Amino acid sequence: MRKLLLIIIGLCFVAAPAVAFHDGGVAHCNGCHTMHNSQNGILVDPANPNGNQFLLNKADPSSVCIACHDHLDRTYPVGGDPLSPPAQREGGNFIFLDEDNLNDGHGGATNPIPGDAAGHNLVAAEYGLTADATLTAAPGGTFPAGIMGCSSCHDPHGSTDFRFLYGVGRGPDGFSFTNPAPVADGVSIFAGVSGSYHTAYKSGMSAWCGNCHGDFHNNNTKLIHPSGSTLGGGVATNYNLYNGSDDLSGGAQATAYLMEVPFEDPANTNFSTAGPSASSQVSCITCHRAHATSAPDAGRWDFSVSHLAEDGQESGSYAIPNPYTGFQRSLCNKCHVKDRFSEQIDATP
Ligand code: HEC
Ligand code: HEC
Ligand code: HEC
Ligand code: HEC
Ligand code: HEC
Ligand code: HEC
Repeated sequence: MRKLLLIIIGLCFVAAPAVAFHDGGVAHCNGCHTMHNSQNGILVDPANPNGNQFLLNKADPSSVCIACHDHLDRTYPVGGDPLSPPAQREGGNFIFLDEDNLNDGHGGATNPIPGDAAGHNLVAAEYGLTADATLTAAPGGTFPAGIMGCSSCHDPHGSTDFRFLYGVGRGPDGFSFTNPAPVADGVSIFAGVSGSYHTAYKSGMSAWCGNCHGDFHNNNTKLIHPSGSTLGGGVATNYNLYNGSDDLSGGAQATAYLMEVPFEDPANTNFSTAGPSASSQVSCITCHRAHATSAPDAGRWDFSVSHLAEDGQESGSYAIPNPYTGFQRSLCNKCHVKDRFSEQIDATP
């Protein structure tokens, strides 16, 4: 009896999460749609009195999502501050699309790289966001930049896949993805992430990004950095021992996980702190975030600075925090330890 009661209580928890909207599938339609653009005699979307495409309650798909999701953390149409971004998310925050300069390389102050290079752009008219001004399609593939938005990657009608990402035979705007949604377990979207509370990346992310970016991961046929391939014993050992530019071999496998440089492994859990084994994989999300960051190319760290302390100096943009304590160089070193023979230099201004 007691056992039965416990099972019933357990089921209640599964059936009724604390704050839910999508409920693991398609949410109530009028969370996003309006049939007449009218309720209580008032326009549902006053900005568009004649209503919207797809009978949406905002101008376009991304404006619908942003109305609830605070990755932008700013009010209509502008007003947020990329220098005080919302709490770090695994996907990264779209507020950095508002930066006026991301260039922290030498001479970066006078050669601005605008915020649309911070990551994936969103066409969200009600939030003043437009398509990428430089790229017209996904590098490596053909997906057009002009229609990029939340529902290019997430199925607005939900699914059982990780984060409702599109998978094989489904896709946005008539596109049909050829590779499945990645296998991963997400953490609560209401809590901040940390080294012991993070997405558990398991497999398939590189192939999934490849739905739009083609064979950016295929180092069998191209001389490009491996993605979706195993680390091998040497690189895994580097990762596990590396504990920062000032401590190249003081790390240990049990605590080596660095959420700024994640890898894929079926053994990863939301709470795991363990570093990789030889069969773990380097993946697109090892170096990039899926949404946007305060560095060009949605870099998890700025690829154009030698010392992380230089981040934000030339550009005046938000400095991505240094995960280590010392005078840290590029996080490529987590796997390659090319800072082995480097001098310890304080690059803080
Ligand atoms: C989380 C927001 C959201 C919810 C909830 C939602 N929709 Fe949609 N729906 C969209 C968006 C955004 C589009 C535009 C197409 C796109 O972006 O893929 C759309 C498009 C559509 C379309 C036209 C295109 C297509 O995919 O067939 C239909 C029909 C539709 N929705 C029906 C529904 C119904 C019925 C429900 C409730 C059971 C519902 N939607 C719930 C966001 C939502
Ligand atoms: C009415 C408010 C609302 C709207 C509109 C909305 N969301 Fe959500 N979304 C939520 C809430 C609340 C959660 C967390 C609970 C849940 O998953 O239902 C969430 C969770 C999510 C998650 C994480 C799901 C998981 O469990 O891993 C994704 C991805 C997401 N939303 C995408 C979208 C996209 C894409 C759109 C636009 C098509 C959208 N949302 C529109 C409120 C909203
Ligand atoms: C639905 C198609 C689609 C998917 C899936 C997709 N991308 Fe993209 N990506 C694009 C398009 C289109 C652009 C160019 C326009 C833009 O930046 O918005 C782009 C641009 C980029 C850029 C360059 C950003 C810039 O402005 O310089 C990076 C980096 C990137 N993608 C990485 C990824 C990674 C990593 C994944 C997987 C987590 C991924 N993409 C998944 C379509 C996609
Ligand atoms: C290029 C594809 C792409 C686009 C565009 C995109 N997402 Fe995501 N999103 C992802 C991926 C992949 C993840 C998983 C990130 C991870 O765990 O590393 C994710 C994660 C999320 C999460 C979980 C919390 C987090 O940040 O990790 C939410 C909520 C979400 N997305 C909502 C949105 C909304 C809202 C938009 C538009 C404003 C959007 N996404 C646009 C691919 C995309
Ligand atoms: C080892 C780190 C690393 C991995 C893994 C990685 N990238 Fe990149 N990516 C970079 C760097 C660094 C750049 C800057 C340009 C360059 O170095 O070629 C970049 C640039 C990009 C760009 C912008 C290209 C342009 O023309 O503007 C896209 C798109 C991109 N990456 C997508 C991906 C996808 C998709 C994957 C997985 C299949 C991936 N990356 C895996 C480090 C990485
Ligand atoms: C998660 C671990 C990981 C990270 C982080 C990483 N790499 Fe790699 N890298 C690998 C693996 C695995 C290989 C292939 C095996 C090898 O060459 O040891 C590789 C190979 C290389 C190669 C040699 C390619 C060849 O064909 O010989 C270069 C150069 C390289 N990486 C540069 C970088 C740069 C630059 C960065 C940062 C932007 C970076 N890597 C980040 C894992 C990583």
